[in-house]
Amino acid sequence: MDIARTPTTPDGNPHLADAAPEPQQPPEILREDYTPFPWLVPTTHLEFELGVDTTRVIATLEVQRNSAAEPSRTIRLNGDGLELVELHCDDEDCLAHTLDGDDLIVTLEGERHTLRIVTELNPSDNSQLMGLYASNGMLCTQCEAEGFRRITFFPDRPDVLSTYTVRMKGPKAQFPILLSNGNKTDSGEEGESHWAEWHDPWPKPSYLFALVAGDLVARSDRFITMSGRDVELNVWVREGDLPRTEHAMESLKRSMKWDEETFGREYDLDLFNIVAVSDFNMGAMENKGLNVFNTKYVLADPETATDGDFDAVEGVIGHEYFHNWSGNRITCRDWFQLSLKEGFTVLRDQLFSQDMGSAPVKRIEDVRILRGVQFPEDSGPLAHPIRPDSYREISNFYTSTVYNKGAEVIRMMRTLANFGADEDAFRQGTDTYFDTHDGEAATCEDFVSSIERGTGLDLKQFRLWYSQAGTPRVEIAQSHEGNVAALRLKQHVPATPGQPDKNPMPIPLRIALFDRETGRHWGEHLVVLDTAEKEVRFEGFSQSPVLSINRGFSAPVTIKRDIAREDLLFLAAKDDDPFARYEAMQDLMVDHHVAAVSGNLDDDGIEAGRADICAALSAVIADDTLDDLMRGELLSMPNQTYVMEQFDKADPERIHEAREALKAAIGTRLSSELHQAYARAEKLPFSHSAEAKGARKLKTLILGYAAAGDPDKAAELAAHQYEHADNMTDRQGALMTLAGLDTVERTNALLDFYNRYQDNALVIDKWFALQASSPHPNAIEHVKALAEHPDFTLKNPNRVRSLYMPFAANPPAFHSADGEGYRMISDLILELDPLNPQTAARFVPPLGRWRRIEPGRAALMRAELQRIADASKLSRDTYEQVTRSLG
Ligand code: TRP
Ligand code: ZN
Repeated sequence: MDIARTPTTPDGNPHLADAAPEPQQPPEILREDYTPFPWLVPTTHLEFELGVDTTRVIATLEVQRNSAAEPSRTIRLNGDGLELVELHCDDEDCLAHTLDGDDLIVTLEGERHTLRIVTELNPSDNSQLMGLYASNGMLCTQCEAEGFRRITFFPDRPDVLSTYTVRMKGPKAQFPILLSNGNKTDSGEEGESHWAEWHDPWPKPSYLFALVAGDLVARSDRFITMSGRDVELNVWVREGDLPRTEHAMESLKRSMKWDEETFGREYDLDLFNIVAVSDFNMGAMENKGLNVFNTKYVLADPETATDGDFDAVEGVIGHEYFHNWSGNRITCRDWFQLSLKEGFTVLRDQLFSQDMGSAPVKRIEDVRILRGVQFPEDSGPLAHPIRPDSYREISNFYTSTVYNKGAEVIRMMRTLANFGADEDAFRQGTDTYFDTHDGEAATCEDFVSSIERGTGLDLKQFRLWYSQAGTPRVEIAQSHEGNVAALRLKQHVPATPGQPDKNPMPIPLRIALFDRETGRHWGEHLVVLDTAEKEVRFEGFSQSPVLSINRGFSAPVTIKRDIAREDLLFLAAKDDDPFARYEAMQDLMVDHHVAAVSGNLDDDGIEAGRADICAALSAVIADDTLDDLMRGELLSMPNQTYVMEQFDKADPERIHEAREALKAAIGTRLSSELHQAYARAEKLPFSHSAEAKGARKLKTLILGYAAAGDPDKAAELAAHQYEHADNMTDRQGALMTLAGLDTVERTNALLDFYNRYQDNALVIDKWFALQASSPHPNAIEHVKALAEHPDFTLKNPNRVRSLYMPFAANPPAFHSADGEGYRMISDLILELDPLNPQTAARFVPPLGRWRRIEPGRAALMRAELQRIADASKLSRDTYEQVTRSLG
């Protein structure tokens, strides 16, 4: 799509670009090359004549010289696939311009000028879903990061802030609702057509511009802010979806209140609109006053959404709302600073969700995502610091590293500031940041130095967390002599692409030392490991204590230590830090996998390991101090990707076998306890209470163990749960179990589910996902058949992801020894790339893990990457990911 176009001049002559063939190697952009833009754009006026097949855009830009930048005789206006229809400068036809690739360069002699640019777009032809596109008959925009340049020529960079006025006009019947940023200032009708004018008083970068036109209805409400501003709230959806918007609206109001109470941040417009769109590349977008959401993160009711979906809606609504301050009021100077807004906003949404539900369980979920997605990224060919130093396509850097590790890095500053303090010193840091940089396009450095000033911390060495990639490894050796317990700590930051040597970073570790006799400890310590090696000593221990370390996951590192199994069992039973207790349980199971796969265990060793694990799980089932949400976490097996990460070169098949064997052993040995727990959980009627959610989580977890231990019994139980379900959590949980079994119940339930929810795209996505993630031995064949299903389409990113993401994360299927899984993913990438490069490129990382997989499969994975690289017309997105992955 973005390939081999021929830009034309206003008189229609081909110009410049047809002389130069599309470069195979897109240029590398470097952080150190940043320079301010030579021009300011105080105001931007946009006029849209809307049509699904043709939209005309008239942009009027006031530009003036930026005295803070190097002067320039020209202004570079970025474009991407645009057709220039007219160009005027100060009301004259402008001849002094050239096209440089996709960009428009205009020569400007004076201090101030007015540019008028006319472009014409075809939204229905826009399958990339960047810029202005049609979705289900409505028109909407996505401009982050560089989508605005697909609408009009503009300095499309986040440090150019402008005040926008938007006027749009279109057929009333087709587009009864016309929305943009800020407030509606005027509207009117002209025959069949109508128009609206919107004005956003807050200067913003182009990536925060949004426009929506379509046949939408709203759930409306209001929120009175802390200073008494009366804000109108709307959640806009297609008519039939209105009943599923209540949770989104409630989540929005809770977010607004929470940000006032927790960060002192108040909303700053009289209107806040959310629009749900079914074709969307990501989760949602924080456009000023007009957030645009993937329907997946708006629509929820108990019949069609799981408890996990409800939590995700709340989290994403919070995330986008919190961007109003961390992202919009203070934006990024350049895209290398992306973690400034994303890392901080992820931390804010995590803390919000912690406060709205179970804080320990939310923390465990967040760590699971970090370790399941970010750790593999950090140990592979795509590793980069949370503030990258270079990129070819910025869309590739909306990564788990920038988002999730970015959040962990800020969380560490919070721990350093607040540990042991009575007051919230971190809040003083964030207040300083908001006060100092409000209205600016800022850098990560601005953030860190604000936190320093506000909290009094010295973060000089801490800044390494922004520049060094790789997950630090901390080795711990424990000793005891007399009444002194000593810890020897060593850190190692592994080499990553372009960074062979690293410096020691400050690693804040919350620890506790437990007395074996009493099962208690005398308070937590914060040990900051800020050198390659360090020894810390604690007095007053007549015998060696049990060490609980990295409590609450205070640092995003891996811990290596020789810990006796009895100590892990002690912590799994007694640790008062919920995360550390979960961790001990996971370690027990992970260590067992590693030992079993490495062939270090004879039958007796395997038997002893299983016996210990089952005893610990059994104690968890019986522990009545736990709620079921937390009990569910403690009973969960480590996911296979995480286990695979423990190996230098993983053998997915052997790991899968070891995992299934352990699961079956648990299912068999604990059968009666698990079924008793199931019977107890089954009695609870449906509600959104933590108790009822916990019961549902437990039921599905138990079905999983039962399926491994006694498949026939499990099929019966799951079929019963499926048939009697009065909510999607139970129904999907049961179907998930059935989908992995070779029974008639499987076929019946899958058919029933499809027929029942045929008209609900989000539920049909689950139907695809369930089958693609299934441990069923024929999963590969199922995925192939599903790709031919009439409901499958490459045009809808949710649908593509629902089939192929779970598949790529399903080790026995994806890592099929004949390489068929790899082939399917590379075929997908090649077919999707011309349509939607952003989504296509997101399927490259699973193939990029080849260095960490046993040699036979690694060669097959590499060969598939090479096949993609050899294709003739790759997008920048896929090209960059594939070449980095090949290394
Ligand atoms: N800023 C958005 C968020 O995290 C991310 C986003 C939405 C995005 N749509 C995008 C990023 C398209 C790149 C491309 O909240
Ligand atoms: Zn975000």
